[in-house]
Amino acid sequence: MNAFYDILIVGAGHAGAQAAIALRQKKFEGTIGLVGNEKYPPYERPPLSKEYLAGEKPFDRILLRPESFWVEREIDLLTGRRVSKLDPVGKTVTLASDDEIGYGKLIWATGGSPRMLDCPGSQARNIHAVRSRADVDKIMAALPAVNKVVVVGGGYIGLEAAAVLTKLGKQITVVESLDRVLSRVAGEALSRFFEAEHRSHGVTIELDATVAGFETGEDGIASAVLLGDGRRLEADMFVVGIGIIPETGPLVAAGAATGNGVDVDQHCRTSLEDVYAIGDCAAHSNAFAEGAMIRLESVQNANDQAKVAAMDILGEDAEYDAVPWFWSNQYDLKLQTVGLSTGHDSYVVRGDPASRKFSVIYYRDGKVVALDCVNATKDYVQGRKAVVEGLNLDKDELVNTEIPIKEVGIH
Ligand code: NAI
Repeated sequence: MNAFYDILIVGAGHAGAQAAIALRQKKFEGTIGLVGNEKYPPYERPPLSKEYLAGEKPFDRILLRPESFWVEREIDLLTGRRVSKLDPVGKTVTLASDDEIGYGKLIWATGGSPRMLDCPGSQARNIHAVRSRADVDKIMAALPAVNKVVVVGGGYIGLEAAAVLTKLGKQITVVESLDRVLSRVAGEALSRFFEAEHRSHGVTIELDATVAGFETGEDGIASAVLLGDGRRLEADMFVVGIGIIPETGPLVAAGAATGNGVDVDQHCRTSLEDVYAIGDCAAHSNAFAEGAMIRLESVQNANDQAKVAAMDILGEDAEYDAVPWFWSNQYDLKLQTVGLSTGHDSYVVRGDPASRKFSVIYYRDGKVVALDCVNATKDYVQGRKAVVEGLNLDKDELVNTEIPIKEVGIH
């Protein structure tokens, strides 16, 4: 480990790794250090709640790059290390081990930590998050002795985990505090479709259900979750997917402008000199959210912001204006989303959800702002232009699946 790097990247997830890759692709010749608190080289996170949990993909197949890549590109991987302090004036970070590392430019790419429940019994050993390889390895090691699982949270993590665990023969109940699943990311039609799909696979879904606590034995193992309405759901394992908390402590302490994450401008610069922030932890003004300061928790955003930060550091002109997109796989369903549906005032369903191939097109002020496409990749690809250009697609033509989206009339 050097005591100084020209560019020090904190956080070795998708965003941090991509920033290092982009710098070398652009022929940056200075020193690069990539600090990660996990002991593994950078790996893909989406498979953790899908193929990796299912045991279909081993760890070496979800590495972002083979280990040799980092050595060949002279990117120092400083794994198993956590940054606890930042001095933006002296331009150093301090590790939990008290070691100090100086930097020329700093890229903060720490993502977020899973939000956990805070209630009686919530520290039990069989309550798991799904965020890191270590989390999922613990789940997989325990699974052979598990029959019933309660999944808390009906977001992407909860539903993807429910789909995989059902396939593995487990009996699943999803406990969601709101009145529909996927409410943070999708409209009601899509939520109802996914609820019905999960129920048809034998998953029980409890909506409007809050967690009051867990019944825990002296062995530190929870045997039941207690709901706010007094009901008690027994299970051998509990999986919690109730969102993330951005990891911004040292930046906040150092005086960076923060709110919902670390504030960055269109070049991914924070308010601190020579400090950039990218990925899940970076709040930016997003054109697809009417300029609101938002954090986008997606691989696409991590990669695109990483490239913008790298280019800005190298003096190239780059602004972050990427079109948001997301995907989720559950059972044999491929959900692809382009744009942001938050704040939509109407929507059109194109195709019959019963056919398991349909799209939901969201409008705000007469303009298409997002599409959720289920097993409908053509709609996803063709609908992108409508989102980017804010087109007012004719709704009567849109519901006619005989007309490709690219040929639908515009008002
Ligand atoms: P999320 O925010 O997407 O969903 C959390 C869900 O938990 C929401 O439905 C919320 O209403 C519910 N909830 C919150 N508090 C609760 C409580 N106390 N009791 C019961 N339900 C509660 O977060 P999630 O699913 O944990 O995902 C974490 C991160 O991982 C997100 O950034 C997500 O975008 C990302 N991710 C993305 C995937 C994708 O793009 N396909 C797949 C998996 C994760």
